[in-house]
Amino acid sequence: MLKTPTIVLNVKTYAEAIGVKALEIAQLMDKISQESGASMAIAVQATDISICAGKVKIPVFAEHIDPISPGSHTGWTLPESVKEAGAIGTLINHSEHRLKLADIDLCIKRVKELDLDHIICTNNISTSKAAAAFSPNFIALEPPELIGGDTSVTTADPDIVSGSVAAVKDININVKVLCGAGVKNGKDVAKSVELGAEGVLLASGIVKAKDKESVIRDLASGL
Ligand code: G3P
Repeated sequence: MLKTPTIVLNVKTYAEAIGVKALEIAQLMDKISQESGASMAIAVQATDISICAGKVKIPVFAEHIDPISPGSHTGWTLPESVKEAGAIGTLINHSEHRLKLADIDLCIKRVKELDLDHIICTNNISTSKAAAAFSPNFIALEPPELIGGDTSVTTADPDIVSGSVAAVKDININVKVLCGAGVKNGKDVAKSVELGAEGVLLASGIVKAKDKESVIRDLASGL
């Protein structure tokens, strides 16, 4: 399983992180992870998993899977396929790709069958509690209104981070909690750990940065 504390980058569908550009970011994270010893992972579009996996040592995640099994489904993302492409895990229920509760349940059953790491995204303390009941590997709390902004959740609403950690651990001590939205630098990462989280999930802070290498180094210093 993904080592913690950790920095997980979700490249979303940003133009700066498609195909070979996703690989370049993955290779940068890989280099800095090896130099610093900081645990890092990258979640890329399904089409880019095989471009990145195998070329880097850091874990590659899918950004999404659908609650299906092999068979007659068209245009969906099959959990078996992301694993075959080289992903060791997946995000589930990102705020930008929400699922129904029953579908989250089914996705978690599928990833457990396939032994894939899984990060269930939640938007507040109540949904973090609900997600904890499924006993996932990870929950990543991300208030949607702070996603893509300049203020980190750890500054804007530290209580939602510590409150989610407490609520989740109360239900299942083994579920690890990450936090995200607006995370930009090492100070934000350090604060997330101080608040009880076991790392961060971020996107624009790296993907949109002009000097990605120095941002990744700074983020790593926060662990
Ligand atoms: O999945 C990470 C994401 O939603 C947070 O985005 O740009 O605020 O780091 P960002």
